[in-house]
Amino acid sequence: MEKHDAILSLVYFASCTSAFRLTSMSAPKVADLRDIMELDCHFDMGQEELYAVKWYKDDQEFFRYMPRGQQETRLFPVPGVKLDTRSVDCNKNRCKIGLTDLKKMHSGGAYRCEISSEAPAFRLASETHNVTVAGK
Ligand SMILES: *[C@@H]1O[C@H](CO)[C@@H](O)[C@H](O)[C@H]1NC(C)=O
Repeated sequence: MEKHDAILSLVYFASCTSAFRLTSMSAPKVADLRDIMELDCHFDMGQEELYAVKWYKDDQEFFRYMPRGQQETRLFPVPGVKLDTRSVDCNKNRCKIGLTDLKKMHSGGAYRCEISSEAPAFRLASETHNVTVAGK
């Protein structure tokens, strides 16, 4: 390879790998007790493969999506968090979930979407939103 080509391919490589990012996460500031709380996470993996999307409430993982795992989705018990399975819509660009049976005292908190890429890069990105639960 000539020097010129080597430089070009380096630039190309750098611009591709830098595309990995969490583009947006959305969550309500205030969730109504009677509603399904929708949490949505959008990401751009660039040239990398998605390894997992993990959802946390106050640093406790409650849902995991691993498109190439043995089990595509996994649930973990966290107080105040009940997944509405019909609301789940996850793929390689997006992971939307819904929570139901909200509890005023236990469902509010810091919700985080975290994405990670496959080996060898193992890149990580996340975004957190605080949600307050209101209503009666
Ligand atoms: C969420 O709330 C905590 C304290 O309750 C605060 O430290 C943090 O900055 C808030 N995060 C966001 C994203 O608003």
